[in-house]
Amino acid sequence: MCHSQISIERLEHLEQEHDACRAKLDALESALQIRADTRMVARELCFGIWSLLKAHINEEARLLASCQNPLSAKELTQLASDHEEELKELAVATWQLSENSSDLERARPTIARATVILRHHMAEQEFKLFPALSWVLSI
Ligand SMILES: [Fe+2]
Repeated sequence: MCHSQISIERLEHLEQEHDACRAKLDALESALQIRADTRMVARELCFGIWSLLKAHINEEARLLASCQNPLSAKELTQLASDHEEELKELAVATWQLSENSSDLERARPTIARATVILRHHMAEQEFKLFPALSWVLSI
């Protein structure tokens, strides 16, 4: 298997991780709509998304670094590092949900921000970054 083929498979894996993030975000949003106290469920989901995203960011950075690309490296690097913003929000949400004295309501705004920006950044990467990487990798 050639280097380019391996890189294309890594790019496809990044896309699958975005789908996995979306599925977990859907589960998190559903859990938040239930009237019962879902604090522990929400905490596990936030931590699960945070863990997935942390590994995903590293994989995106590795793939981007492996592309000695003729494209605007600065813009692509920015797109690849956008996930750091939601990673911080998810860490805060997980911490807020772990506090003994806290309740779900305290974490809702943080979770809402993390959800919105993660969905936005995944869509933006799929529209700009991934096609650019795919193009570079196929050269
Ligand atoms: Fe991503």
